[in-house]
Amino acid sequence: MPTDDPLLQAARAVRDHAYAPYSGFKVGAAVRTVSGAIFVGCNVENVAYPEGTCAEAGAIAAMVAAGEQKIAAVAVIADSPAPVPPCGGCRQKLAEFAEGSTTVTLATTGGEQRQISVADLLPGAFSTVHME
Ligand code: THU
Repeated sequence: MPTDDPLLQAARAVRDHAYAPYSGFKVGAAVRTVSGAIFVGCNVENVAYPEGTCAEAGAIAAMVAAGEQKIAAVAVIADSPAPVPPCGGCRQKLAEFAEGSTTVTLATTGGEQRQISVADLLPGAFSTVHME
């Protein structure tokens, strides 16, 4: 996606607000919903390490809190040598609110990008089908 795409710009901007004193690794995420609205999140770490939350989780929480539930596109950005893929937990969280075909754009602050679908991020995802 173009570097001036509003979704990527939103992810880049919110990354500045990340609270990552322990890893020093700031991440920004943005989701665009089917309505066209954009919701953002950043990682928020904690001295009790497992209590930290990922950028993607924050963006999803903001979306749901605003009354929306259908993700049309995702962008994640970090200052890393190569685009950073979402962690396993975030893949499952994205799969909850996106189609398998939904594109996730992974970007570096240096301008590198990689696009991947939600289905390719989480093959064999656990879903409601498995509880029937
Ligand atoms: N992190 C995210 O926020 N999203 C990702 O996709 C990968 C990892 C955060 C969690 C933690 O605060 C830091 O990056 C290092 O793992």
